Amino acid sequence: MASISFAFILCVLIGRGYGIIHQLNGSEYARMPPIFQMDPFEECFFEPGGMYCTVDFTLVADSPIPLMDMIREYSEPSSKRFNHSKLTYGICVTKSCTNHNSTNLRLRLESCLNDTMWDEYGLKTIVPEKFYCEDGEKTMEVTPAGIVVAFIVMFLFLLNFIGSSYDFCCNPDKDRGIKFLLCFSIRRNWIKLVTPIADTPEPRFKRLKSFNGLKVISTCMVIFAHSIFIGAYFVNNTAFVEGEYNKLPYQIIFNGTIIVQNFFIVSGFLLAYNLQLYAEKHALDWKVIVKAIVLRWLRLTPAYAIVLGFVLTWYGQLGTGPIWQKVAGTEVTYCRETWWYHLFYLNNYLDGSECLSHTWYLAADTQLYILGVLVWVVCGSARSRLVVLSLLFVAGMVIPAVITYINDLDGAVIVSPEATRGFYVHDQTYIQVYSRGHTNIAGYVIGMALGYLIHYTQAADFNPQKYKKYRVCVWLTLPLGFIVVGAGKVFYADERASLAERVAAAALLKPIFGFLVAICLGSSVLKFENVYRGILEWRGWTPLSRVTYSAYLLHYVFVKYFIGNQVTLLHISFMFVSFIFMGTIFIGFLAAFPFYLLVESPLAQLIKLCLPVEREKTKEPEEWKQETITTYSSREHL
Ligand SMILES: *[C@@H]1O[C@H](CO)[C@@H](O)[C@H](O)[C@H]1NC(C)=O
Ligand SMILES: *[C@@H]1O[C@H](CO)[C@@H](O)[C@H](O)[C@H]1NC(C)=O
Ligand SMILES: *[C@@H]1O[C@H](CO)[C@@H](O)[C@H](O)[C@H]1NC(C)=O
Repeated sequence: MASISFAFILCVLIGRGYGIIHQLNGSEYARMPPIFQMDPFEECFFEPGGMYCTVDFTLVADSPIPLMDMIREYSEPSSKRFNHSKLTYGICVTKSCTNHNSTNLRLRLESCLNDTMWDEYGLKTIVPEKFYCEDGEKTMEVTPAGIVVAFIVMFLFLLNFIGSSYDFCCNPDKDRGIKFLLCFSIRRNWIKLVTPIADTPEPRFKRLKSFNGLKVISTCMVIFAHSIFIGAYFVNNTAFVEGEYNKLPYQIIFNGTIIVQNFFIVSGFLLAYNLQLYAEKHALDWKVIVKAIVLRWLRLTPAYAIVLGFVLTWYGQLGTGPIWQKVAGTEVTYCRETWWYHLFYLNNYLDGSECLSHTWYLAADTQLYILGVLVWVVCGSARSRLVVLSLLFVAGMVIPAVITYINDLDGAVIVSPEATRGFYVHDQTYIQVYSRGHTNIAGYVIGMALGYLIHYTQAADFNPQKYKKYRVCVWLTLPLGFIVVGAGKVFYADERASLAERVAAAALLKPIFGFLVAICLGSSVLKFENVYRGILEWRGWTPLSRVTYSAYLLHYVFVKYFIGNQVTLLHISFMFVSFIFMGTIFIGFLAAFPFYLLVESPLAQLIKLCLPVEREKTKEPEEWKQETITTYSSREHL
């Protein structure tokens, strides 16, 4: 099977090869040292004093030799090739390097690797200062912070137990029972979770049902994107991984990072829409700004802080394996240094941190949210909003383009094997364009404009049925979306795309994709067509959509846990990746349900209960339930 797929990849490689590409057939490929290698892990500690190290090292040649040139040239199209001169080996030092006795561990490893690489390939190595070793002893370290986190979690469980028992035994009336305890009733939280959007006093919210489907589908795609990390970490068939880049279906996956724009659009939409609803009965003054920001912070932070607290304290001790320190240990170290950036949603401006990197989105979305509220409140009139939104939209195209031009970046994040292997920590396009707040303005503004427009059309009794013959435009959005995404193929050619192409992509991809999503979403809200709407409004999405924030927070921890606990090389295949993908989604959502019931939902209700503003105005539609990934701000939610 492996050889068949290998032959197939070779055909693809050779068939597609032209220009500078260095085509390699199987025997030539095998002349290069494997990128990943792992000595057996557990066996290393069978003998006392066992020592196992995982090293990232660089291959060098003392004198120019053809093999080194071949490695360099083959690695040249870096968007789709591993860098075959950067290797990662897990070495049982006490077994594999018995002839090397230097007391300096780095030198011992280097001379050991020098010898093996010289014997087999005529190459030498450079081992960096930083590598990771295990001596097989596992001690559970109990820190004060760990005790605090454990105590908080226990306390939450206890409250859930008491709240649920109270609800179960006394069956108290909703308005007269002890409200504080009822927040923690699992039964009530469950009912909240599964109730379809029913009796919201604001009927217009019912029209936002399609957001549920969009949110769940987009979250699944984000989880999928993260499960790809598994395919670039410690695999033994690197040729297969590299071969995948030449197939069109995979291009759609590799360019799928744009999908995150969906969240910005939904988020911008809800912000503008909710503010418009609020403005029907209230004045929009500066107090709104403060209130909106505080409420959003309170809505997002408790669940996030619990995940962060867990990662800071216990997470690092729960796994083991050759790369556990490299994958999870690094994450914990970074989180300990930078956790407060996360709590203030500034982490996407912090370069090089590996702490829960997927949460860049929460930070970027919060920044855009603040920008949006400011714009809405400061620009009171419809005309000034139009002007400012248009200016922001232009800025949303110009800023990424300029940054791409100045720094010679890629037009979109390239899901290259090397960037994936490094979790994008040093990928400049990811850092400077993909994950910042100010580079994602376009999608957010499109969302806000759509929210404003929908509110306006609903107020104006606009009848979309008159325009039914244009429905085909809506149906075209999906195929066009695939074309936009597939257009990213130019970034995976053998030669790097020209600067003009990259700048154009940086400016245009997000807005074009944003418009397509906005058309689809807007037509669903207005009941303009029934095919996409039918899919997006399926009732089954509703409970899933309510746990998307939890699933989003948690899945990444599972992915890293899976990678970190690897003790052998993986063999990547289509089926393997499919299983990993479905498994990650399943585990992410499976964990999200209890997390939502026991943590997210009770804490959100508790905060609502504690806020005096909210209690005074119980008759208000609850516009202020701010969520991002969970952005479904209809009143049934909390
Ligand atoms: C692979 O290519 C090399 C050089 O182009 C050639 O000498 C060798 O016979 C080829 N091997 C196979 C199995 O085709
Ligand atoms: C591969 O890694 C080596 C060593 O870090 C570096 O010098 C080289 O430029 C890299 N090659 C590519 C194509 O990035
Ligand atoms: C390994 O080889 C490299 C390249 O020749 C050399 O610079 C380095 O000193 C060697 N390391 C040891 C420990 O001999």
